[in-house]
Amino acid sequence: MCGIVGAVSHRDVVADLVEGLRRLEYRGYDSAGVAILNDGNIQNRRAVGKVAKLADLIKEQPLTGTTGVAHTRWATHGVPAERNAHPHRSGEDVVVVHNGIIENHAELRDSLKADGYTFQSETDTEVIAHLLARHLKSGLSLEASVKAAREELVGAYGMAAISPHEPDVMVVARAGSPLVIGIADDEHLIASDVFALLPITQRFIFLEEGDVAVLSRKTIAIFDSENNAVVRDEKFSEVSAENTEKGHYEHYMLKEIYEQPAVIAETLEGRIYKGRLLEESFGHTATELFDKTKNIHIIACGTSYHAGLVAKYWLEEIGIPCHVEVASEYRYRQVVVPEGTLFISVSQSGETADTLAALRAGKGAKYLGCLTVCNVPESSLVRESDVAVMTRAGKEIGVASTKAFTTQLVALRLITIALARRQGMNQDQEKALVEELHALPRQVEVVLELADEIKAMAASFADKQNALFLGRGTFYPIAMEGALKLKEISYIHAEAYAAGELKHGPLALVDEIMPVVCALPDDPLLEKVLSNLQEVRARGGELFLFSDKKVKIPLDKYQDLKLDDICPSTAPIVYSIPLQLLSYFVALEKGTDVDQPRNLAKSVTVE
Ligand code: M6R
Repeated sequence: MCGIVGAVSHRDVVADLVEGLRRLEYRGYDSAGVAILNDGNIQNRRAVGKVAKLADLIKEQPLTGTTGVAHTRWATHGVPAERNAHPHRSGEDVVVVHNGIIENHAELRDSLKADGYTFQSETDTEVIAHLLARHLKSGLSLEASVKAAREELVGAYGMAAISPHEPDVMVVARAGSPLVIGIADDEHLIASDVFALLPITQRFIFLEEGDVAVLSRKTIAIFDSENNAVVRDEKFSEVSAENTEKGHYEHYMLKEIYEQPAVIAETLEGRIYKGRLLEESFGHTATELFDKTKNIHIIACGTSYHAGLVAKYWLEEIGIPCHVEVASEYRYRQVVVPEGTLFISVSQSGETADTLAALRAGKGAKYLGCLTVCNVPESSLVRESDVAVMTRAGKEIGVASTKAFTTQLVALRLITIALARRQGMNQDQEKALVEELHALPRQVEVVLELADEIKAMAASFADKQNALFLGRGTFYPIAMEGALKLKEISYIHAEAYAAGELKHGPLALVDEIMPVVCALPDDPLLEKVLSNLQEVRARGGELFLFSDKKVKIPLDKYQDLKLDDICPSTAPIVYSIPLQLLSYFVALEKGTDVDQPRNLAKSVTVE
């Protein structure tokens, strides 16, 4: 969950390293640091807090150098403090940055202490620095030291090491955490994510599990986990640095909410045409898997898990049994896999540690195959799955997921239609469902035009401590997603309940100051939900509703926002938008850090 950047170049790289960190800040923002090789010395600057603090420090105490590494941290071992901020060094021998967790750090620490190494931090990373120093002192090169350390380290990591003994070399290793090499003129760079390097290059090499790479300005040598020299293909990233700026929006989250009509259209592009699903767009392997699919297991975390829960309703409606589970539970239990089951992982980043571990466990079980719904083409989940259905949301930077969620739902809807064909859906039924998807971008646009009304509603929320979100059917997971968004960015305690569960306990929480949020689409469960809302009103609860224009609300008091002409099959997607906006405006009222809420990080690459 930390971000790392590094460079070996002919020019001063400090400014680019800091800019790279700024672009990786979504991965963690407790502290940041840079280390540079300069005249046979290691010089570093580290600061607690966001990258801007580090940039200020470097302004006061400038640094220059042509080889350097940098890091932005999401604390795991040790509190956010300067001593725990990366880079970590071992004297004047070596300096490292690391993303991941070294599981055997305690025993390595004991052995290094016994050899006289003293530790400045509580981090697991510092053991890597001293381990490398011990190998360097025994006469090994930096490359050989990293390869030797690879044999001793247990855990997940992406790391980069530089040493004043070999000032024009950087050695990097990947085991469980993403690492990419950027290729530019007379220089090579590394980062946890291409995004960090986009202002400099769009040419990348993605390291594979177990790889070690040795970089100089002009050369790259890559060795696989068996230490064979290997060639990894160079890829050109279509994403440009400009596409990933905030533009005129105050926050990335707001920009990403407003991008939804465009990215939903993009996710549908080439996949539907004239009322038909173009199934070939998923590829031959997908079609073969769909032919054999009798059951589905969907595994994901957080917002992506909520997308999976919505899909469960869709899939079971067409007669396909579907089990949905959070990856952190799935990976550690005995799972029964009925014959003909397709494994589906859902993830924005494609790097979430628990989801990746679940996929790897799934690959060892008797699934038909593994499909991922993912937003990052170069991610580990995509590379390790048999089939990838890409959401085309573009880079999502706000920690709170918005456009990634709605495009995941679109992709899952397309998969549902592909499977519904095999369940006997006729062409007219398919046409109706595809037309509903086709209409979706415009419907989302119309809801976005209601932003000012949602902002006014949010004003009544700012002083709240708690909130309840209710829903039935597909709107239950949508309520879960609404509650997650609110708690994530406004720090208001929010819980979601299936509306019918209210009287089985949570109703005890309802009083005059409890806000209750609920979507009221015009669907067969409407009357049931309205009865549940009566129960809320009878206890004085304050209702915030998002309802279909056709719905008559027989309640005495409520705030309501009307949505027009929403299609039944895509309604969960459309109703997600006002809930996203509500959370955003509440957070704005409260003055919290919308894009980088406390204690969280965008890409959860540790367990
Ligand atoms: O990248 P992923 O979709 O695998 O991430 C899963 C969760 O960490 C993520 O959805 C998280 O819950 C978001 N911050 C929610 O807004």
